[in-house]
Amino acid sequence: QSELKDKMIEAHELAAKLYHYILMNTAHGQEALSYLRDRGINDKLIEQFQIGYAPTQWDTLVQLLEKRGFSLEAMEQAGLLSAKHQQPGYVDRFRDRIMFPIWDRNGKVIGFGGRILGEGQPKYLNSPETLLFNKSKLIYNQHLARPHMKRTGQLVLFEGYADVIQAWDAEVFNGIATMGTALTSEHVKLMKRMVERVIICYDGDNAGRAAASKAIPLLEQEGLDVSVAMLPNNMDPDDYIRANGAERFRHAILSAAVSPVKFQLLSLRGDHILLEDDGKRRFLKEALKLIAPIESPTEREMHLAELSKQIGVTIESLKQECFDLRQKLL
Ligand code: GTP
Ligand code: MN
Ligand code: MN
Ligand code: MN
Ligand code: MN
Repeated sequence: QSELKDKMIEAHELAAKLYHYILMNTAHGQEALSYLRDRGINDKLIEQFQIGYAPTQWDTLVQLLEKRGFSLEAMEQAGLLSAKHQQPGYVDRFRDRIMFPIWDRNGKVIGFGGRILGEGQPKYLNSPETLLFNKSKLIYNQHLARPHMKRTGQLVLFEGYADVIQAWDAEVFNGIATMGTALTSEHVKLMKRMVERVIICYDGDNAGRAAASKAIPLLEQEGLDVSVAMLPNNMDPDDYIRANGAERFRHAILSAAVSPVKFQLLSLRGDHILLEDDGKRRFLKEALKLIAPIESPTEREMHLAELSKQIGVTIESLKQECFDLRQKLL
């Protein structure tokens, strides 16, 4: 078992070198290299994250692994090759994709995220679950971010590989992501061993906000101090950094991260139309449910003051309603 694991890791390390070499030094990699540069992923980042390109041929990796004496069957189990349909033999699992190596905590390559060039489905093809690669326990960029997470006591949680990479370029070195899966309690336990504070920085779309709402209680249950960075509509951190620069990302987005309650209130505000009394009433009811359980009276009051401005009622009446609701809840 552990011998098989070692072989799998060795093959992943070799594959990462091959893909990176093809991207940087061959004609096959030209288009992928231009794609990356157009996306603002410069050569320094390509080196840092050992990004590569898996060419279109069916057997580039098969050939290399065979020549180096790897068992192709084991390499299928490792998620690097696929069995041919209805005939013996194997083909490369990843073809015509930008390859993002995924490392374990020790910096060994144990999987890949493969992005299609441009549009198409699936956008990302990831390694399958294997002996090495367990999405619910893996954190992208853990090994590079770890010293920075420990130094700052904090991490920034992104949705995508591209966000982590672009943030690194913006000198945000404590950024990590899950592998396109929802956050699990296993991820959170790993985080808890490295940091006290988490800034959630998911995409500024409905999917991102919904994912943040689910992540908040998971993180808080483990006693982590959570805040939420909010991006303008339909921008993700990668888009934002490229459009507005590193400086603004760090100051206007990360430093402006809000408390989970504030985040919920802002999301709620976005979901309701406040022109009519009916909309106001529904918004108010939901908002008070979020505010009433807050322990700190001054924090409650700050939210109520904001609410009073938003819907044009006195803070006194809001305080009364909040008080009544609090009595019911306690
Ligand atoms: P870019 O378009 O390259 O900027 O990617 P993105 O990271 O912005 O993608 P998106 O916000 O759509 O998705 C966030 C993360 O979800 C990605 O980084 C992947 O890890 C994962 N993901 C996205 N699309 C797919 C897919 O088609 N299949 C799988 N398995 N994962 C995906
Ligand atoms: Mn290189
Ligand atoms: Mn998204
Ligand atoms: Mn995104
Ligand atoms: Mn993106």
